Order: sequence, then structure tokens, then C-alpha cells
Amino acid sequence: MTSLEQAREWLAAASSVAVLTGAGISAESGIPTFRGAGGLWKEYKPEDLATPEAFAKDPRLVWEWYNWRRELIAKGAPNAAHRALVEIEKRKTRFTLITQNVDGLHDLAGSGKILKLHGDIWRMRCMECGANFPNRRVPLPKIPPHCACGGLARPGVVWFGEQLPEGMMQEAEHAAASAQLFLVIGTSATVYPAASLIPHAKKSGARVIEFNPEPGPLSNLADCVFQGPAGEWLPQLL
Ligand code: OAD
Repeated sequence: MTSLEQAREWLAAASSVAVLTGAGISAESGIPTFRGAGGLWKEYKPEDLATPEAFAKDPRLVWEWYNWRRELIAKGAPNAAHRALVEIEKRKTRFTLITQNVDGLHDLAGSGKILKLHGDIWRMRCMECGANFPNRRVPLPKIPPHCACGGLARPGVVWFGEQLPEGMMQEAEHAAASAQLFLVIGTSATVYPAASLIPHAKKSGARVIEFNPEPGPLSNLADCVFQGPAGEWLPQLL
């Protein structure tokens, strides 16, 4: 039996499926990843742009970077891998999509409930009143943007050194632990706690299938690795 036939069989047999996605699933939509060739962290320093300290020091600089990323993302559309996950969700009674991505492409593809571990670039949070609100303006008419109350707004994402949204990691861990099949798609598996979901699923008995052109530090935990672009491999599972 080929790996593809085996993976199709595991997918067909699993009644509960959980998925962890990372920036690589959106690479074929034209959105740069963080690490690897052409990765954002090659050109920019996370500590200058993606920490609460960076924002406190220079909100305009941080917002200019987020505004640029929003422009890039707005030009992209969901790809075949995002769409394949929508199809898998339709077929399974228990399905959880956990993403580290803030780009909103899973929403645009039509995925249902999504655990967005690192927040959402299309939302903002007020530094004064704490309001958490959607904003899809591209480009932003004024940088930095403000809340209706007049307070400074920040991107609705999780920065380095910050906690994940309350209760979300517990929900993700529960999904990973109860999954019969766990798909790991387009993540370097280097950022925690998100990456810990992979050993968590494996220890709890899930079959793990990875989709990534480059092996990562946790690839050895996978029962099967499709070493290539997610948009090419994932639809072949269906
Ligand atoms: P990374 O940029 O670290 O990793 C992207 C992964 O996608 C790499 O392993 C690539 O090999 C893989 N990849 C590239 N093209 C692919 C394709 N077509 N199909 C499948 N895989 C492909 O992105 P993440 O693992 O998501 O956090 O990074 C995790 C977190 O680090 C992000 O959420 C962000 C970042 O700093 C915060 O900003 C808090």
C-alpha cells in the first residue's frame, strides 16, 4: 500500500479529526511564511515588531508593518489546501481546526469553528477600553488606528511573550487528545505552546500525518509525512 492509500484509509476510518495549521498552508496563496526561504523573520526582527514592548515604543512602526501584511494577505485567496480542510470538516462528526495563522484564509474558505491560537489580523483591540472589534480596512486610512472611544488600537494578534486567548489552548489540547487522526500542515513546529499539540496528540493515540516540503524538529513523530506543498497533497487525501 502506498503512503497516500494508507493516509486515505486512516482519514476514512477516523471519526474524530484535529488539524494544526501554520503559515505554510497559506504559502501557495502568496503569503510569506515566517521562517525558511523568503520568511518574514529573515528580513525583520520579531522583537521590533511583534512584542508588547515594540508596540509601546513605536505603535506607528508596528502598525505600518501590520498594515503592509494586511495588504499582502488581502491580495491572496484560500488555496486547495484550505478548501480540502472544509471538505474534511463536512465529512466528520468531530473535527477541530487549530491554526497559528492570523490571515483569516480558513474563514474565507468556509471552515466552521476555528481555534485561532495567535489571534486574527482582521481584528483590533483597544488599549483604553479593551473593546475587541473587526476591521478589514486595507490600507488603513490612518496609522495608528483608534477605537471609537478615542483610545489607541492594537492588532488583534498574540505577540511574543503574551498569553494565548483564555481557555483556547485547553480546548486545542482536548481536541488533540481525542483525535484519532491529527494533521499537521505547514508549520515549522518551533513555536510553543502550539507545537506541543503534536506530541500531545501522538501520546494520546492519534495517527499523525504531516504535510510540509521541509522536515521539522517534530517530523519524527509523524506516522506519515507528505514532503511537498500542502495544496498539492492535501486534496489527494479526499
Ligand atoms: P513558519 O514560518 O515557522 O513555518 C512555515 C512552515 O511551512 C515551514 O516548515 C515550511 O517548510 C512550511 N511550508 C512552506 N511552504 C509550504 C507549503 N506550500 N505547504 C506546506 N508547508 C509549507 O510558520 P509557523 O510554524 O506557522 O507567531 O510559525 C509559528 C508562529 O511563529 C507564527 O504563528 C508566528 C510566528 O512567529 C506569532 O507571530 C506569535
